[in-house]
Amino acid sequence: MRLVAAELVDSREILPGQWLQSYHAPELASGSRAGQFVHVRTGDLAGLVLRRPFSINTADPVSGIITIHFRIIGRGTDWLTRLLPGDTADMLGPLGRPFEVDPRSRHLMLVAGGLGMAGVRMLVDEALRDGRKVALLFGAASAREVYPSNLLPDEVEYVVATDDGSLGRRGFVTGLVPEYEAWADQAFACGPYPMLAALSKLIAGRRERLGVAKLGRRRGAGKVDPIGSPSARRKSFLQVSMEQNMGCAVGACLGCVVMSVSGPPQRVCREGPVFASDEIAWEPAW
Ligand SMILES: Cc1cc2nc3c(=O)[nH]c(=O)nc-3n(C[C@H](O)[C@H](O)[C@H](O)COP(=O)(O)OP(=O)(O)OC[C@H]3O[C@@H](n4cnc5c(N)ncnc54)[C@H](O)[C@@H]3O)c2cc1C
Ligand code: FES
Repeated sequence: MRLVAAELVDSREILPGQWLQSYHAPELASGSRAGQFVHVRTGDLAGLVLRRPFSINTADPVSGIITIHFRIIGRGTDWLTRLLPGDTADMLGPLGRPFEVDPRSRHLMLVAGGLGMAGVRMLVDEALRDGRKVALLFGAASAREVYPSNLLPDEVEYVVATDDGSLGRRGFVTGLVPEYEAWADQAFACGPYPMLAALSKLIAGRRERLGVAKLGRRRGAGKVDPIGSPSARRKSFLQVSMEQNMGCAVGACLGCVVMSVSGPPQRVCREGPVFASDEIAWEPAW
């Protein structure tokens, strides 16, 4: 984890209210993995005290550039949009635990809802670089909010669903999953909580529906992987990247916990933001 003065290189509105910003931050670009995030000071010390978390959208170790993709929500994100090239933003990162791809997985299904694209976008690059095939299923309310395909590598199979049917398939992105779940060796998702909960429920019935063997069953069979461990994530068919409001982002304030099915509450900033979907109690009894 490093504290970096990241220099803004490019900033543009790619969708209404959604921005893509590129920063020169070689220390972050070379050490980050898909699923991790940065905690950004958005304003001076006299203004906003709490940093804001953003997924590392892409990271290029050669150019030293990382990107973040965000929607304007309040004062912090609005402040970011007013930065000009050459200005710096104070970033802490990379933070959190990344997605874990099983070395044997050839076909990856990525599921993104809205801004959840930022959570899985870097995994597209990592997977293609490693010679894997990627189907990226994306859901948005309408065509106006569909992530532009020209910001994705040509090799990715990009499939869109919109709630109102104005582009792609009509309905939720989870409706696309049954067409890819037999093809996929593993799945990775980021998006609103209800989408992740619905997807997790759908995937829980996958083995029975398809009658498929589970990756990693032979290796380490009978061994219980600690919750939050890389091996637990790697063996899970579905990994999810969770968003919770954050205070410290370094594990101290417990402001970001989610309930797990079999262990103590999990801190999204430390044990997450990526979890095996079957580790999460999606309807917790708080
Ligand atoms: C691990 C992680 C990764 C994220 N990645 C992205 C991303 O790539 N793109 C993106 O647009 N958004 C992302 N978010 C949400 C983003 O952090 C909030 O939209 C942002 O903090 C809002 O700040 P604001 O000052 O503009 O809004 P305000 O509403 O003024 O924020 C007030 C406070 O609430 C917190 N907050 C508000 N909404 C959220 C939220 N949804 N999640 C977490 N904290 C929130 C802020 O950190 C701040 O402390 C991520 C959140 C987490 C936890
Ligand atoms: S934000 Fe403080 S423990 Fe996670």
